[in-house]
Amino acid sequence: METIISGLKSGTIPQHVAIIMDGNGRWALKQGLERSAGHVRGVDTVRQITEIASQLGVRYLTLYAFSTENWNRPQKEVDILMDLIVTAIERETPDLIRNNVRLALIGDTSRMPDFAVDRLKRCISDTSASTGLTLCLAISYSSRWELTDTVRRIAAEVSQGTLSINDITPDIIDRHLATSFMPDPDLLIRTGGDMRVSNFLLWQIAYSEIYVTDTYWPDFSQLDFCNAVALFQKRERRFGLTGEQVRNQ
Ligand code: FPP
Repeated sequence: METIISGLKSGTIPQHVAIIMDGNGRWALKQGLERSAGHVRGVDTVRQITEIASQLGVRYLTLYAFSTENWNRPQKEVDILMDLIVTAIERETPDLIRNNVRLALIGDTSRMPDFAVDRLKRCISDTSASTGLTLCLAISYSSRWELTDTVRRIAAEVSQGTLSINDITPDIIDRHLATSFMPDPDLLIRTGGDMRVSNFLLWQIAYSEIYVTDTYWPDFSQLDFCNAVALFQKRERRFGLTGEQVRNQ
């Protein structure tokens, strides 16, 4: 693994990796277990992937832990997931601090139970002095919620007269998004094989490289993450330019 890491570090490391962690339920059903067993194993993968991202020098890792649409799952699964996420983060906080990882949260906290918001906020504050990887959890998050909230806040500024309509630019929109403290993802990973973006960071992934693997999230390994980064390093990112223009930059 050391050789793989140092090989990758001689190339461009994506500054921001965003992951749609899918396939926990299917992983569990394949083993004849309850869906929640897949979420429990998924937490182990979160730890492994946070560790390798940090070792590679990734600056931001955003994980889609719970979507706005997930509130519509059976109440029992919702409760298990919320409890699992909060408990895991609290348990890992001392290790996050030791490894210089800072925790962040994006999502509609107004829909989350108070106990979850309070405990997550405490972990965020406990890790706030870390200067290494930022682990950003998207909880109760969807892009359409975020964009609606952003439009409302921009409209409020316009109606108060602190912002003029002509001053609304992509940069102004960026600065009002929940993700305003991060650059856009360079690499979007989806596990579980489905070819969709599921209401995740729709504005921010405009130029992200996309990597989809059939591997279910509980089976997604550090080596799989390195493979995704290696493939990212082989891609030519053109941002709408021609290949020739990019090579002459
Ligand atoms: C998708 O699998 C996964 C989720 C909805 C939850 C992911 C959450 C975790 C892995 C726990 C996160 C923990 C921390 C600490 C951030 P699915 O249930 O949709 O799987 P399926 O598509 O096979 O049904």
